[in-house]
Amino acid sequence: MKKYFVAPSVLSANYLALKDELTVIRTAGAEWIHFDVMDGDFVPNLTFGPKILADIRSYSNLYLDCHLMVKIKNQSVESYLLPFIKAGASSITLHYEALTPDQLTEFLMLRIKLQLKIGLAINPRTPLTVVFPYLEQLDLVLIMTVEPGFGGQSFIPQAAKKIKELRTYLDQHQYSTLIEVDGGINEQTGLICKNYGVDVLVAGSYLFGHSDLITRLQGLLADETN
Ligand code: DX5
Ligand code: ZN
Repeated sequence: MKKYFVAPSVLSANYLALKDELTVIRTAGAEWIHFDVMDGDFVPNLTFGPKILADIRSYSNLYLDCHLMVKIKNQSVESYLLPFIKAGASSITLHYEALTPDQLTEFLMLRIKLQLKIGLAINPRTPLTVVFPYLEQLDLVLIMTVEPGFGGQSFIPQAAKKIKELRTYLDQHQYSTLIEVDGGINEQTGLICKNYGVDVLVAGSYLFGHSDLITRLQGLLADETN
């Protein structure tokens, strides 16, 4: 039986009841939480920063999977990321599309320098091959199955096919990089991704705001592949 991680996306949580939401997802068996940082520049939406992350960390020992949809300007990647690291991020994922070549090089070096778990995310229209040269240096690759920016969008099946391609490539090269999928995940689309070989499923609107959240989450955690 394969073990899957489900990372409920805080983006869809009720912030007035965040403590309760965190307790429920932990009780349901989630070990990760997905924290979407948006800057109103790389994506047309704004969310939250290190302060909320630190508050979550002060309450929870969940793995804090930070997905930064941001462009970094006028400062080093390291100085931009340090507040998130200090706040308790377990891993930080940046978008390939948002980084200059120099920023990408710096980001990859931070893995060793700061003992940081790092990931690269790619948008639905970005070819998978862009991450191939860096796989050995990455803890995870995040395959976006919606355009980044908002929760509640529909899954793009074509983008999910990259999971299968990446699984084959990782197995061939014996890399242990995790494959994470984000966008439009529910029971059906989650199963497609599991059959393609995903490791981590992000889910926001499918989980939060539903009275049967626990059943839904446990369904995503289950190994139901064929
Ligand atoms: C979208 C975010 C996602 C979002 C997913 O840009 O990266 O993490 O919360 O939401 P759902 O699961 O509703 O598509
Ligand atoms: Zn995300």
